[in-house]
Amino acid sequence: MIGRLNHVAIAVRDLAAASALYRDTLGADVSAPEPLPEHGVTVVFVNLPNTKIELLEPLGTDSPIGRFLERNPDGGIHHICYEVPDLVTARESLVRDGARVLGSGEARIGAHGKPVLFLHPKDFNGTLVELEQA
Ligand code: CO
Repeated sequence: MIGRLNHVAIAVRDLAAASALYRDTLGADVSAPEPLPEHGVTVVFVNLPNTKIELLEPLGTDSPIGRFLERNPDGGIHHICYEVPDLVTARESLVRDGARVLGSGEARIGAHGKPVLFLHPKDFNGTLVELEQA
């Protein structure tokens, strides 16, 4: 079912500092910050040869990343995103196997303009899993 690792998302307190760390210390290709108010984040993309890292800073007062940082003050890995060829088929199969889809259970448009679903971390080894339509 799952295909490529699309991205690993890391919650950060200070996006400018995290960008500098990836650009200057790790020597990576780092994008300009992009505010995504509908997702409550500002994102920077770190483009690696085989995948992306997304640095997420809270935006606004009701940000899921803000709540994550309250529990993880140093930041940390927030979720990992796998590509699937067909999100509807993937969801049906997962729900049949007892996995819980977060929110309404319906796909919504994610940070890259493609449909995504999030799966409950308790069902996946303590890791929040995002599935994105390839
Ligand atoms: Co993501």
